[in-house]
Amino acid sequence: MLQNRQTEIGEVDSITGNTIAVRLLDNIRSNMPIIDGVVYRVGQIGSFIKIPLGYANLYGIVTQIGSAAIPENLKELVEKDYDSLKNARWINITLVGEQVGKKFERGVTQYPTTGDKVHLVTIRDLDIIYGGFDKDSSINVGNISVSESLEARVDIDKLISRHCAIVGSTGSGKSNSVAILLEAIANKQFKSCRILVIDPHGEYNESLSKFSKVFKVDDAEVATSLYVPYWALPFNELLNIFSGNLTDSNREYIRQKVTEAKIKSADANELEVDRASISADSPIPFSLKQLWFDLDDFERQTFSERGNPDSLTEKLVNGNPENLISNEYQPASAGGGAPFLNNQAKGLLTFLDSVRNKLKDARYKFLFQPGDMSPNSDGLVEGDLDKMLLSWLGEENPITILDLSGIPSEVMTSISGTLLKIVYEALFWGLETKVGGKNQPLLIVLEEAHNYLRSGENSISSRSVQTIAKEGRKYGVGLLLVTQRPSELDETVLSQCGTMIALRMNNSKDRGHIKSAIQDELQSMVDLLPSLRTGEGLISGESVKIPSRVKFFKISNAPRGSNPKASKQWGMEIENPQEEYATLLRSWRNKTYKKSEL
Ligand SMILES: Nc1ncnc2c1ncn2[C@@H]1O[C@H](COP(=O)(O)OP(=O)(O)O)[C@@H](O)[C@H]1O
Ligand SMILES: [Mg+2]
Repeated sequence: MLQNRQTEIGEVDSITGNTIAVRLLDNIRSNMPIIDGVVYRVGQIGSFIKIPLGYANLYGIVTQIGSAAIPENLKELVEKDYDSLKNARWINITLVGEQVGKKFERGVTQYPTTGDKVHLVTIRDLDIIYGGFDKDSSINVGNISVSESLEARVDIDKLISRHCAIVGSTGSGKSNSVAILLEAIANKQFKSCRILVIDPHGEYNESLSKFSKVFKVDDAEVATSLYVPYWALPFNELLNIFSGNLTDSNREYIRQKVTEAKIKSADANELEVDRASISADSPIPFSLKQLWFDLDDFERQTFSERGNPDSLTEKLVNGNPENLISNEYQPASAGGGAPFLNNQAKGLLTFLDSVRNKLKDARYKFLFQPGDMSPNSDGLVEGDLDKMLLSWLGEENPITILDLSGIPSEVMTSISGTLLKIVYEALFWGLETKVGGKNQPLLIVLEEAHNYLRSGENSISSRSVQTIAKEGRKYGVGLLLVTQRPSELDETVLSQCGTMIALRMNNSKDRGHIKSAIQDELQSMVDLLPSLRTGEGLISGESVKIPSRVKFFKISNAPRGSNPKASKQWGMEIENPQEEYATLLRSWRNKTYKKSEL
Protein backbone atom coordinates (compact mmCIF):
# COMPACT_ATOMS: atom_id res chain seq x y z
CA MET A 1 0.00 0.00 0.00
CA LEU A 2 2.81 2.29 0.94
CA GLN A 3 4.38 1.65 -2.40
CA ASN A 4 1.13 2.55 -4.14
CA ARG A 5 0.85 5.87 -2.46
CA GLN A 6 4.47 6.62 -3.23
CA THR A 7 4.05 5.94 -6.90
CA GLU A 8 0.72 7.68 -7.39
CA ILE A 9 1.10 10.83 -9.42
CA GLY A 10 -2.34 11.82 -10.62
CA GLU A 11 -5.69 10.74 -11.96
CA VAL A 12 -7.40 10.29 -15.27
CA ASP A 13 -9.36 13.36 -16.29
CA SER A 14 -10.53 12.64 -19.79
CA ILE A 15 -10.16 10.03 -22.47
CA THR A 16 -10.10 10.64 -26.20
CA GLY A 17 -9.47 7.51 -28.20
CA ASN A 18 -6.11 6.25 -27.13
CA THR A 19 -5.01 9.49 -25.54
CA ILE A 20 -5.62 10.11 -21.88
CA ALA A 21 -5.37 13.46 -20.14
CA VAL A 22 -4.05 13.13 -16.62
CA ARG A 23 -4.19 15.76 -13.93
CA LEU A 24 -1.18 15.44 -11.69
CA LEU A 25 -1.69 15.55 -7.96
CA ASP A 26 -1.08 18.98 -6.46
CA ASN A 27 1.02 17.48 -3.77
CA ILE A 28 3.42 15.14 -5.51
CA ARG A 29 6.22 15.12 -3.03
CA SER A 30 8.91 15.60 -5.56
CA ASN A 31 9.52 15.66 -9.27
CA MET A 32 12.16 13.08 -8.68
CA PRO A 33 10.87 10.67 -6.05
CA ILE A 34 13.15 7.94 -4.77
CA ILE A 35 11.47 4.59 -4.47
CA ASP A 36 13.39 1.56 -3.22
CA GLY A 37 16.58 3.51 -3.67
CA VAL A 38 15.95 4.31 -7.32
CA VAL A 39 15.40 7.85 -8.59
CA TYR A 40 12.46 8.36 -10.94
CA ARG A 41 11.45 11.35 -12.94
CA VAL A 42 7.80 12.34 -12.98
CA GLY A 43 6.25 13.33 -16.23
CA GLN A 44 9.19 13.22 -18.60
CA ILE A 45 8.17 12.92 -22.21
CA GLY A 46 8.82 9.37 -23.21
CA SER A 47 8.54 7.98 -19.69
CA PHE A 48 6.02 5.33 -18.75
CA ILE A 49 3.02 5.43 -16.48
CA LYS A 50 0.74 2.73 -15.15
CA ILE A 51 -3.02 2.69 -14.53
CA PRO A 52 -4.06 -0.24 -12.34
CA LEU A 53 -7.51 -1.58 -13.22
CA GLY A 54 -8.21 -4.27 -10.69
CA TYR A 55 -6.65 -7.41 -12.08
CA ALA A 56 -4.89 -5.76 -14.99
CA ASN A 57 -2.49 -2.87 -15.38
CA LEU A 58 -2.61 -0.52 -18.34
CA TYR A 59 0.64 1.03 -19.47
CA GLY A 60 1.06 4.32 -21.23
CA ILE A 61 3.76 6.59 -22.40
CA VAL A 62 3.89 10.33 -21.67
CA THR A 63 3.54 12.29 -24.89
CA GLN A 64 2.65 15.82 -23.80
CA ILE A 65 3.24 17.91 -20.73
CA GLY A 66 1.98 21.25 -19.47
CA SER A 67 -0.54 23.59 -20.99
CA ALA A 68 -0.59 21.70 -24.29
CA ALA A 69 -1.90 18.75 -22.35
CA ILE A 70 -4.83 20.59 -20.78
CA PRO A 71 -8.04 19.02 -22.06
CA GLU A 72 -9.85 21.22 -24.61
CA ASN A 73 -13.00 21.62 -22.50
CA LEU A 74 -10.96 22.92 -19.60
CA LYS A 75 -8.93 25.45 -21.50
CA GLU A 76 -11.74 28.00 -21.34
CA LEU A 77 -12.22 27.33 -17.68
CA VAL A 78 -8.56 27.88 -16.99
CA GLU A 79 -8.78 31.28 -18.55
CA LYS A 80 -11.87 32.20 -16.50
CA ASP A 81 -10.92 30.70 -13.20
CA TYR A 82 -7.20 30.98 -13.35
CA ASP A 83 -6.61 31.04 -9.63
CA SER A 84 -8.08 27.70 -8.77
CA LEU A 85 -6.42 25.94 -11.68
CA LYS A 86 -3.15 27.76 -12.02
CA ASN A 87 -1.23 25.17 -10.09
CA ALA A 88 -2.78 22.22 -11.80
CA ARG A 89 -0.38 20.27 -13.94
CA TRP A 90 -1.33 18.08 -16.81
CA ILE A 91 0.18 15.34 -18.86
CA ASN A 92 -1.13 13.45 -21.86
CA ILE A 93 -0.40 9.81 -22.22
CA THR A 94 -0.88 7.26 -24.94
CA LEU A 95 -1.80 3.75 -23.96
CA VAL A 96 0.60 1.20 -25.36
CA GLY A 97 -0.10 -2.09 -23.67
CA GLU A 98 -1.50 -4.01 -20.76
CA GLN A 99 -0.32 -6.50 -18.24
CA VAL A 100 -2.41 -9.37 -16.97
CA GLY A 101 -0.69 -11.42 -14.30
CA LYS A 102 2.98 -11.56 -15.23
CA LYS A 103 2.38 -11.16 -18.90
CA PHE A 104 2.69 -7.94 -20.85
CA GLU A 105 1.03 -7.52 -24.23
CA ARG A 106 1.06 -4.67 -26.67
CA GLY A 107 -2.26 -2.99 -27.32
CA VAL A 108 -5.11 -2.56 -24.87
CA THR A 109 -8.42 -4.37 -24.58
CA GLN A 110 -9.95 -2.10 -21.94
CA TYR A 111 -9.87 1.57 -21.11
CA PRO A 112 -9.68 3.49 -17.86
CA THR A 113 -12.41 5.85 -16.72
CA THR A 114 -12.18 9.28 -15.21
CA GLY A 115 -10.88 9.25 -11.71
CA ASP A 116 -8.70 6.17 -12.13
CA LYS A 117 -5.38 6.60 -10.41
CA VAL A 118 -2.21 7.03 -12.40
CA HIS A 119 1.11 5.72 -11.14
CA LEU A 120 4.77 5.97 -11.89
CA VAL A 121 6.23 2.88 -13.42
CA THR A 122 8.90 1.34 -11.25
CA ILE A 123 11.72 -0.94 -12.14
CA ARG A 124 9.68 -3.85 -10.91
CA ASP A 125 6.93 -3.02 -13.39
CA LEU A 126 9.38 -2.52 -16.19
CA ASP A 127 10.94 -5.86 -15.44
CA ILE A 128 7.59 -7.38 -16.23
CA ILE A 129 7.28 -5.46 -19.47
CA TYR A 130 10.77 -6.27 -20.59
CA GLY A 131 11.03 -9.59 -18.87
CA GLY A 132 8.92 -11.17 -21.57
CA PHE A 133 11.83 -10.99 -23.98
CA ASP A 134 13.33 -14.25 -25.07
CA LYS A 135 17.02 -13.81 -24.25
CA ASP A 136 18.13 -15.99 -27.14
CA SER A 137 16.39 -13.94 -29.77
CA SER A 138 16.92 -10.49 -28.32
CA ILE A 139 19.86 -8.21 -27.71
CA ASN A 140 20.59 -5.53 -25.17
CA VAL A 141 21.65 -2.26 -26.77
CA GLY A 142 21.63 0.19 -23.88
CA ASN A 143 19.50 1.49 -21.03
CA ILE A 144 15.99 2.78 -20.89
CA SER A 145 16.57 6.50 -20.36
CA VAL A 146 14.14 6.93 -17.48
CA SER A 147 15.96 4.41 -15.40
CA GLU A 148 19.59 3.55 -15.85
CA SER A 149 19.34 0.10 -14.37
CA LEU A 150 16.99 -1.15 -17.02
CA GLU A 151 18.16 -2.99 -20.14
CA ALA A 152 16.91 -1.82 -23.52
CA ARG A 153 16.15 -5.02 -25.38
CA VAL A 154 15.44 -5.42 -29.06
CA ASP A 155 14.01 -8.50 -30.74
CA ILE A 156 16.46 -9.65 -33.42
CA ASP A 157 13.95 -11.55 -35.53
CA LYS A 158 11.60 -8.61 -35.88
CA LEU A 159 14.45 -6.18 -36.32
CA ILE A 160 15.83 -8.11 -39.26
CA SER A 161 12.81 -9.50 -41.01
CA ARG A 162 10.78 -6.28 -40.75
CA HIS A 163 13.57 -3.89 -41.72
CA CYS A 164 14.77 -1.03 -39.57
CA ALA A 165 15.73 2.61 -40.04
CA ILE A 166 18.18 4.56 -37.89
CA VAL A 167 17.79 8.30 -38.39
CA GLY A 168 19.38 11.31 -36.73
CA SER A 169 21.48 14.39 -37.40
CA THR A 170 25.21 14.12 -37.98
CA GLY A 171 26.90 13.36 -34.69
CA SER A 172 23.75 12.11 -33.00
CA GLY A 173 25.24 8.64 -32.61
CA LYS A 174 23.94 6.65 -35.57
CA SER A 175 27.17 4.89 -36.45
CA ASN A 176 27.73 4.08 -32.81
CA SER A 177 24.28 2.52 -32.46
CA VAL A 178 24.78 0.50 -35.63
CA ALA A 179 28.05 -0.82 -34.24
CA ILE A 180 26.39 -1.62 -30.91
CA LEU A 181 23.54 -3.46 -32.62
CA LEU A 182 25.84 -5.48 -34.84
CA GLU A 183 28.27 -6.24 -32.06
CA ALA A 184 25.44 -7.46 -29.85
CA ILE A 185 24.18 -9.73 -32.61
CA ALA A 186 27.68 -11.03 -33.37
CA ASN A 187 28.25 -11.67 -29.67
CA LYS A 188 25.44 -14.20 -29.76
CA GLN A 189 27.86 -16.52 -31.55
CA PHE A 190 25.28 -17.83 -33.99
CA LYS A 191 26.86 -20.42 -36.26
CA SER A 192 25.78 -19.01 -39.57
CA CYS A 193 24.76 -15.44 -38.87
CA ARG A 194 25.46 -13.14 -41.79
CA ILE A 195 25.43 -9.40 -42.00
CA LEU A 196 26.62 -7.34 -44.95
CA VAL A 197 27.59 -3.74 -44.24
CA ILE A 198 27.78 -1.39 -47.20
CA ASP A 199 30.09 1.21 -45.77
CA PRO A 200 30.73 4.20 -48.03
CA HIS A 201 33.32 5.79 -45.73
CA GLY A 202 35.13 2.81 -44.26
CA GLU A 203 33.95 3.75 -40.76
CA TYR A 204 33.36 0.32 -39.34
CA ASN A 205 36.63 -1.44 -40.12
CA GLU A 206 37.99 -0.84 -36.65
CA SER A 207 34.93 -0.78 -34.46
CA LEU A 208 33.77 -4.19 -35.61
CA SER A 209 37.18 -5.70 -36.30
CA LYS A 210 36.64 -8.57 -33.89
CA PHE A 211 33.76 -9.94 -35.89
CA SER A 212 34.23 -8.76 -39.40
CA LYS A 213 36.04 -9.32 -42.63
CA VAL A 214 36.67 -6.18 -44.64
CA PHE A 215 36.72 -5.93 -48.41
CA LYS A 216 38.18 -2.79 -49.80
CA VAL A 217 39.10 -1.40 -53.16
CA ASP A 218 42.80 -1.28 -53.86
CA ASP A 219 44.14 -1.69 -50.36
CA ALA A 220 45.34 -5.23 -49.99
CA GLU A 221 47.34 -4.36 -46.88
CA VAL A 222 44.44 -3.83 -44.54
CA ALA A 223 41.72 -5.79 -46.26
CA THR A 224 40.82 -8.33 -48.86
CA SER A 225 40.40 -6.79 -52.29
CA LEU A 226 36.91 -5.79 -53.21
CA TYR A 227 36.05 -6.65 -56.78
CA VAL A 228 32.83 -5.97 -58.60
CA PRO A 229 33.18 -7.56 -62.02
CA TYR A 230 31.90 -5.20 -64.71
CA TRP A 231 30.29 -8.08 -66.53
CA ALA A 232 27.88 -8.59 -63.64
CA LEU A 233 26.43 -5.13 -64.18
CA PRO A 234 23.18 -4.80 -66.05
CA PHE A 235 23.88 -3.42 -69.52
CA ASN A 236 22.57 0.10 -68.88
CA GLU A 237 24.62 0.46 -65.71
CA LEU A 238 27.73 -0.64 -67.53
CA LEU A 239 27.15 1.96 -70.25
CA ASN A 240 26.48 4.66 -67.65
CA ILE A 241 30.04 4.30 -66.42
CA PHE A 242 31.38 5.61 -69.70
CA SER A 243 30.88 9.16 -70.78
CA GLY A 244 29.61 10.19 -74.16
CA ASN A 245 26.13 10.08 -75.55
CA LEU A 246 25.07 7.19 -77.68
CA THR A 247 22.30 7.24 -80.21
CA ASP A 248 19.57 4.70 -79.65
CA SER A 249 20.70 2.67 -82.60
CA ASN A 250 24.31 2.61 -81.38
CA ARG A 251 23.13 1.54 -77.95
CA GLU A 252 21.26 -1.35 -79.53
CA TYR A 253 24.27 -2.15 -81.69
CA ILE A 254 26.50 -2.45 -78.62
CA ARG A 255 23.84 -4.32 -76.68
CA GLN A 256 23.74 -6.86 -79.48
CA LYS A 257 27.54 -7.21 -79.44
CA VAL A 258 27.58 -7.71 -75.66
CA THR A 259 24.90 -10.37 -75.89
CA GLU A 260 26.88 -12.18 -78.57
CA ALA A 261 30.05 -11.98 -76.49
CA LYS A 262 28.23 -13.37 -73.44
CA ILE A 263 26.83 -16.26 -75.43
CA LYS A 264 30.28 -17.05 -76.78
CA SER A 265 31.84 -16.93 -73.35
CA ALA A 266 29.08 -19.09 -71.87
CA ASP A 267 30.46 -21.74 -74.26
CA ALA A 268 34.07 -21.03 -73.31
CA ASN A 269 33.22 -21.33 -69.62
CA GLU A 270 30.94 -24.31 -70.25
CA LEU A 271 28.18 -22.60 -68.27
CA GLU A 272 24.95 -24.49 -67.78
CA VAL A 273 22.78 -21.69 -69.08
CA ASP A 274 20.12 -21.82 -71.73
CA ARG A 275 21.83 -19.88 -74.52
CA ALA A 276 18.54 -18.45 -75.75
CA SER A 277 17.89 -16.79 -72.40
CA ILE A 278 21.19 -14.91 -72.34
CA SER A 279 20.88 -11.17 -72.69
CA ALA A 280 23.24 -8.23 -72.30
CA ASP A 281 22.03 -8.03 -68.67
CA SER A 282 22.92 -11.62 -67.76
CA PRO A 283 25.67 -11.89 -65.14
CA ILE A 284 27.94 -13.76 -67.52
CA PRO A 285 31.59 -12.94 -68.18
CA PHE A 286 32.74 -11.46 -71.46
CA SER A 287 35.91 -9.67 -72.46
CA LEU A 288 35.29 -5.94 -72.55
CA LYS A 289 38.77 -5.33 -73.92
CA GLN A 290 38.11 -7.63 -76.85
CA LEU A 291 34.74 -6.00 -77.44
CA TRP A 292 36.36 -2.56 -77.34
CA PHE A 293 39.03 -3.72 -79.77
CA ASP A 294 36.56 -5.18 -82.25
CA LEU A 295 34.29 -2.15 -82.19
CA ASP A 296 37.26 0.19 -82.44
CA ASP A 297 38.78 -1.74 -85.34
CA PHE A 298 35.56 -1.57 -87.31
CA GLU A 299 35.45 2.21 -86.96
CA ARG A 300 39.03 2.62 -88.14
CA GLN A 301 39.11 0.33 -91.16
CA THR A 302 39.84 1.90 -94.54
CA PHE A 303 39.38 0.31 -97.95
CA SER A 304 41.06 0.69 -101.29
CA GLU A 305 37.76 0.20 -103.11
CA ARG A 306 34.68 2.04 -101.93
CA GLY A 307 32.23 -0.25 -100.16
CA ASN A 308 34.20 -3.41 -100.85
CA PRO A 309 34.84 -5.21 -97.56
CA ASP A 310 37.49 -7.39 -99.17
CA SER A 311 39.72 -4.44 -100.01
CA LEU A 312 40.97 -3.65 -96.50
CA THR A 313 44.12 -1.52 -96.59
CA GLU A 314 47.36 -2.60 -95.04
CA LYS A 315 47.77 -2.02 -91.31
CA LEU A 316 50.21 0.62 -90.20
CA VAL A 317 49.98 -0.37 -86.54
CA ASN A 318 49.06 -3.80 -85.30
CA GLY A 319 47.00 -3.08 -82.24
CA ASN A 320 46.09 -5.47 -79.49
CA PRO A 321 43.14 -5.69 -77.13
CA GLU A 322 45.13 -6.60 -74.04
CA ASN A 323 47.04 -3.30 -74.03
CA LEU A 324 44.15 -1.36 -75.51
CA ILE A 325 46.10 -0.37 -78.60
CA SER A 326 44.06 0.36 -81.72
CA ASN A 327 44.71 -1.05 -85.14
CA GLU A 328 45.72 1.64 -87.59
CA TYR A 329 45.11 1.51 -91.33
CA GLN A 330 46.11 3.67 -94.28
CA PRO A 331 44.54 7.05 -93.64
CA ALA A 332 41.51 7.79 -95.75
CA SER A 333 42.08 10.26 -98.50
CA ALA A 334 40.65 13.70 -97.98
CA GLY A 335 40.08 14.33 -101.66
CA GLY A 336 37.44 11.69 -102.35
CA GLY A 337 39.80 9.08 -103.84
CA ALA A 338 41.13 5.86 -102.25
CA PRO A 339 41.59 4.84 -99.50
CA PHE A 340 37.98 5.11 -98.35
CA LEU A 341 36.56 5.22 -94.85
CA ASN A 342 34.41 2.33 -93.75
CA ASN A 343 30.97 3.48 -94.87
CA GLN A 344 29.39 1.09 -92.34
CA ALA A 345 31.14 2.80 -89.40
CA LYS A 346 28.87 3.84 -86.53
CA GLY A 347 30.57 7.00 -85.37
CA LEU A 348 31.59 5.46 -82.06
CA LEU A 349 35.19 6.59 -81.77
CA THR A 350 34.59 9.23 -79.10
CA PHE A 351 32.64 6.80 -77.01
CA LEU A 352 35.25 4.09 -77.47
CA ASP A 353 37.93 6.50 -76.38
CA SER A 354 36.10 7.09 -73.13
CA VAL A 355 35.85 3.32 -72.69
CA ARG A 356 39.58 3.01 -73.15
CA ASN A 357 40.20 5.78 -70.64
CA LYS A 358 38.08 4.13 -68.00
CA LEU A 359 39.63 0.72 -68.62
CA LYS A 360 43.03 2.25 -67.95
CA ASP A 361 41.97 4.32 -64.94
CA ALA A 362 43.45 2.85 -61.75
CA ARG A 363 40.40 3.91 -59.75
CA TYR A 364 38.31 1.51 -61.80
CA LYS A 365 40.58 -1.47 -61.36
CA PHE A 366 38.16 -3.11 -58.93
CA LEU A 367 35.64 -3.13 -61.76
CA PHE A 368 37.62 -3.80 -64.92
CA GLN A 369 40.37 -6.02 -63.55
CA PRO A 370 38.45 -7.98 -60.95
CA GLY A 371 41.17 -10.45 -59.95
CA ASP A 372 40.48 -14.00 -61.05
CA MET A 373 37.12 -12.88 -62.35
CA SER A 374 38.90 -11.03 -65.18
CA PRO A 375 37.97 -12.75 -68.43
CA ASN A 376 40.61 -13.57 -71.05
CA SER A 377 39.94 -12.57 -74.64
CA ASP A 378 37.54 -15.49 -75.07
CA GLY A 379 35.63 -14.51 -71.94
CA LEU A 380 37.09 -17.38 -69.93
CA VAL A 381 37.36 -16.72 -66.17
CA GLU A 382 39.07 -18.61 -63.38
CA GLY A 383 36.81 -17.40 -60.61
CA ASP A 384 33.08 -16.87 -60.85
CA LEU A 385 30.47 -15.03 -58.79
CA ASP A 386 29.74 -18.03 -56.56
CA LYS A 387 33.24 -17.75 -55.13
CA MET A 388 32.81 -14.03 -54.60
CA LEU A 389 29.46 -14.51 -52.86
CA LEU A 390 30.93 -17.25 -50.71
CA SER A 391 33.69 -14.93 -49.59
CA TRP A 392 31.20 -12.14 -48.84
CA LEU A 393 28.42 -14.12 -47.27
CA GLY A 394 29.56 -17.60 -46.49
CA GLU A 395 32.69 -17.40 -44.40
CA GLU A 396 33.12 -17.67 -40.64
CA ASN A 397 32.89 -14.00 -39.74
CA PRO A 398 29.33 -13.01 -38.99
CA ILE A 399 29.89 -9.54 -40.44
CA THR A 400 31.26 -8.60 -43.83
CA ILE A 401 32.10 -4.99 -44.50
CA LEU A 402 32.24 -3.79 -48.07
CA ASP A 403 34.29 -0.63 -47.68
CA LEU A 404 33.43 1.52 -50.68
CA SER A 405 35.59 4.48 -49.70
CA GLY A 406 37.93 3.95 -52.65
CA ILE A 407 35.20 3.98 -55.26
CA PRO A 408 34.94 7.10 -57.44
CA SER A 409 31.89 9.07 -56.36
CA GLU A 410 30.50 9.39 -59.87
CA VAL A 411 29.93 5.64 -60.03
CA MET A 412 29.06 5.10 -56.38
CA THR A 413 25.33 4.69 -56.90
CA SER A 414 25.87 2.39 -59.86
CA ILE A 415 28.29 0.23 -57.93
CA SER A 416 26.45 0.09 -54.62
CA GLY A 417 23.22 -0.57 -56.49
CA THR A 418 24.86 -3.32 -58.48
CA LEU A 419 26.29 -4.87 -55.32
CA LEU A 420 22.85 -4.95 -53.77
CA LYS A 421 21.33 -6.31 -56.92
CA ILE A 422 23.91 -9.08 -57.23
CA VAL A 423 23.46 -10.14 -53.61
CA TYR A 424 19.69 -9.92 -53.62
CA GLU A 425 19.20 -11.68 -56.92
CA ALA A 426 21.54 -14.45 -55.86
CA LEU A 427 19.64 -15.08 -52.63
CA PHE A 428 16.32 -14.69 -54.42
CA TRP A 429 17.08 -17.28 -57.07
CA GLY A 430 18.86 -19.43 -54.53
CA LEU A 431 15.70 -19.69 -52.45
CA GLU A 432 15.69 -23.46 -52.51
CA THR A 433 19.32 -23.84 -51.48
CA LYS A 434 20.61 -23.96 -47.94
CA VAL A 435 22.30 -20.61 -48.40
CA GLY A 436 19.22 -18.88 -49.84
CA GLY A 437 17.77 -16.07 -47.77
CA LYS A 438 14.98 -18.14 -46.30
CA ASN A 439 17.28 -20.75 -44.84
CA GLN A 440 20.00 -18.33 -43.88
CA PRO A 441 18.62 -14.80 -43.55
CA LEU A 442 20.84 -11.88 -44.41
CA LEU A 443 20.89 -8.43 -42.86
CA ILE A 444 22.10 -5.68 -45.16
CA VAL A 445 23.24 -2.47 -43.48
CA LEU A 446 23.17 0.63 -45.67
CA GLU A 447 25.09 3.56 -44.19
CA GLU A 448 24.31 6.96 -45.68
CA ALA A 449 21.24 5.45 -47.26
CA HIS A 450 20.09 8.82 -48.63
CA ASN A 451 22.98 8.67 -51.07
CA TYR A 452 21.53 5.82 -52.98
CA LEU A 453 17.89 6.02 -52.19
CA ARG A 454 16.78 9.46 -53.20
CA SER A 455 13.06 9.78 -53.50
CA GLY A 456 11.83 10.04 -57.03
CA GLU A 457 15.11 8.83 -58.48
CA ASN A 458 15.13 5.89 -60.80
CA SER A 459 18.65 4.58 -60.28
CA ILE A 460 19.66 0.97 -59.96
CA SER A 461 20.45 1.50 -56.28
CA SER A 462 17.08 2.97 -55.41
CA ARG A 463 15.33 0.30 -57.43
CA SER A 464 17.32 -2.43 -55.67
CA VAL A 465 16.61 -1.03 -52.21
CA GLN A 466 12.94 -0.59 -53.03
CA THR A 467 12.70 -4.18 -54.17
CA ILE A 468 14.37 -5.45 -51.01
CA ALA A 469 12.20 -3.21 -48.83
CA LYS A 470 9.05 -4.47 -50.49
CA GLU A 471 9.70 -8.15 -50.86
CA GLY A 472 12.91 -8.85 -48.93
CA ARG A 473 11.08 -10.24 -45.92
CA LYS A 474 9.64 -13.02 -48.06
CA TYR A 475 13.11 -14.04 -49.13
CA GLY A 476 14.94 -13.56 -45.86
CA VAL A 477 16.73 -10.33 -46.66
CA GLY A 478 16.44 -7.54 -44.10
CA LEU A 479 17.54 -3.92 -44.35
CA LEU A 480 19.03 -1.62 -41.77
CA LEU A 481 18.92 1.85 -43.29
CA VAL A 482 21.02 4.57 -41.71
CA THR A 483 20.64 8.21 -42.70
CA GLN A 484 20.94 11.78 -41.47
CA ARG A 485 18.54 12.99 -44.11
CA PRO A 486 15.35 10.99 -43.83
CA SER A 487 13.51 13.67 -45.80
CA GLU A 488 15.50 12.66 -48.87
CA LEU A 489 14.60 9.03 -48.49
CA ASP A 490 11.91 7.46 -50.52
CA GLU A 491 8.79 7.54 -48.36
CA THR A 492 7.55 4.12 -49.34
CA VAL A 493 10.82 2.58 -48.25
CA LEU A 494 10.72 4.38 -44.91
CA SER A 495 7.18 3.19 -44.32
CA GLN A 496 8.31 -0.40 -44.91
CA CYS A 497 10.60 -0.19 -41.91
CA GLY A 498 9.00 -2.03 -39.01
CA THR A 499 11.38 -0.54 -36.49
CA MET A 500 12.37 3.10 -36.30
CA ILE A 501 15.27 4.30 -34.22
CA ALA A 502 15.19 8.09 -34.14
CA LEU A 503 18.18 9.83 -32.59
CA ARG A 504 18.61 13.56 -32.09
CA MET A 505 17.27 15.41 -35.08
CA ASN A 506 17.49 19.15 -35.48
CA ASN A 507 15.99 19.64 -38.90
CA SER A 508 12.22 20.05 -38.73
CA LYS A 509 11.73 18.90 -42.30
CA ASP A 510 13.39 15.61 -41.43
CA ARG A 511 11.27 15.23 -38.33
CA GLY A 512 8.12 15.88 -40.31
CA HIS A 513 9.13 13.17 -42.72
CA ILE A 514 9.57 10.46 -40.14
CA LYS A 515 6.37 11.36 -38.30
CA SER A 516 4.36 9.46 -40.86
CA ALA A 517 6.35 6.33 -40.16
CA ILE A 518 5.59 6.47 -36.43
CA GLN A 519 2.45 5.26 -34.67
CA ASP A 520 -0.13 8.07 -34.70
CA GLU A 521 -0.46 8.74 -30.99
CA LEU A 522 3.28 8.87 -30.53
CA GLN A 523 3.83 11.49 -33.17
CA SER A 524 4.04 14.27 -30.61
CA MET A 525 7.11 12.53 -29.25
CA VAL A 526 8.91 13.43 -32.46
CA ASP A 527 9.05 16.99 -31.12
CA LEU A 528 11.31 15.68 -28.43
CA LEU A 529 14.00 14.67 -30.90
CA PRO A 530 15.98 17.93 -31.01
CA SER A 531 16.65 17.69 -27.30
CA LEU A 532 18.00 14.16 -27.13
CA ARG A 533 21.53 13.57 -25.92
CA THR A 534 24.16 12.02 -28.18
CA GLY A 535 23.52 8.30 -28.34
CA GLU A 536 19.97 8.66 -27.09
CA GLY A 537 17.03 7.74 -29.25
CA LEU A 538 13.42 6.71 -29.49
CA ILE A 539 12.93 3.14 -30.53
CA SER A 540 9.48 2.33 -31.74
CA GLY A 541 7.96 -0.41 -33.78
CA GLU A 542 7.86 -4.12 -33.94
CA SER A 543 11.15 -5.11 -32.39
CA VAL A 544 10.46 -3.46 -29.01
CA LYS A 545 7.75 -4.19 -26.49
CA ILE A 546 6.84 -0.57 -26.05
CA PRO A 547 8.21 2.53 -27.68
CA SER A 548 11.14 3.49 -25.52
CA ARG A 549 13.53 6.30 -25.02
CA VAL A 550 16.88 4.58 -24.92
CA LYS A 551 20.48 5.53 -24.27
CA PHE A 552 22.69 3.33 -26.40
CA PHE A 553 25.91 1.90 -25.05
CA LYS A 554 29.07 3.39 -26.44
CA ILE A 555 31.15 1.05 -28.56
CA SER A 556 34.63 0.58 -27.18
CA ASN A 557 36.29 1.04 -30.55
CA ALA A 558 34.46 4.10 -31.80
CA PRO A 559 33.72 4.13 -35.52
CA ARG A 560 36.23 6.32 -37.23
CA GLY A 561 34.72 9.61 -38.32
CA SER A 562 34.98 10.07 -42.01
CA ASN A 563 36.34 13.59 -42.13
CA PRO A 564 39.84 14.71 -41.24
CA LYS A 565 39.95 17.12 -38.33
CA ALA A 566 41.43 20.44 -39.44
CA SER A 567 42.47 21.47 -35.96
CA LYS A 568 44.46 18.28 -35.59
CA GLN A 569 45.88 17.97 -39.10
CA TRP A 570 46.91 21.62 -39.25
CA GLY A 571 48.87 21.10 -36.10
CA MET A 572 51.26 18.76 -37.93
CA GLU A 573 54.25 19.83 -39.91
CA ILE A 574 54.58 18.72 -43.53
CA GLU A 575 58.18 17.66 -43.93
CA ASN A 576 58.98 17.86 -47.59
CA PRO A 577 56.18 19.66 -49.39
CA GLN A 578 58.06 19.99 -52.73
CA GLU A 579 58.39 16.24 -52.98
CA GLU A 580 54.81 15.68 -51.86
CA TYR A 581 53.39 17.98 -54.51
CA ALA A 582 55.54 16.31 -57.15
CA THR A 583 54.19 12.91 -56.10
CA LEU A 584 50.70 14.34 -56.10
CA LEU A 585 51.04 15.49 -59.69
CA ARG A 586 52.55 12.20 -60.78
CA SER A 587 49.70 10.30 -59.13
CA TRP A 588 47.17 12.55 -60.80
CA ARG A 589 48.69 12.08 -64.24
CA ASN A 590 48.97 8.34 -63.78
CA LYS A 591 45.56 8.14 -62.15
CA THR A 592 46.87 6.08 -59.31
CA TYR A 593 46.97 6.58 -55.56
CA LYS A 594 50.08 4.49 -55.15
CA LYS A 595 53.01 6.55 -53.94
CA SER A 596 55.80 4.40 -55.29
CA GLU A 597 54.42 3.77 -58.76
CA LEU A 598 55.89 5.85 -61.54
N1 LIG B 1 25.81 6.20 -26.83
C1 LIG B 1 26.85 7.04 -26.84
N2 LIG B 1 27.45 7.40 -25.69
C2 LIG B 1 28.49 8.25 -25.70
N3 LIG B 1 29.01 8.81 -26.81
C3 LIG B 1 28.47 8.49 -27.98
C4 LIG B 1 27.36 7.60 -28.05
N4 LIG B 1 27.02 7.48 -29.35
C5 LIG B 1 27.88 8.24 -30.05
N5 LIG B 1 28.76 8.86 -29.24
C6 LIG B 1 29.83 9.76 -29.67
O1 LIG B 1 29.30 10.80 -30.45
C7 LIG B 1 30.08 11.05 -31.60
C8 LIG B 1 29.25 10.90 -32.86
O2 LIG B 1 28.78 9.59 -32.97
P1 LIG B 1 28.52 8.88 -34.36
O3 LIG B 1 28.02 7.51 -34.06
O4 LIG B 1 29.71 8.96 -35.26
O5 LIG B 1 27.36 9.79 -34.95
P2 LIG B 1 26.72 9.82 -36.40
O6 LIG B 1 27.04 8.52 -37.07
O7 LIG B 1 25.26 10.00 -36.16
O8 LIG B 1 27.31 10.98 -37.11
C9 LIG B 1 31.24 10.07 -31.54
O9 LIG B 1 32.35 10.72 -31.03
C10 LIG B 1 30.77 9.00 -30.60
O10 LIG B 1 31.85 8.41 -29.91
MG1 LIG C 1 27.93 8.11 -38.94
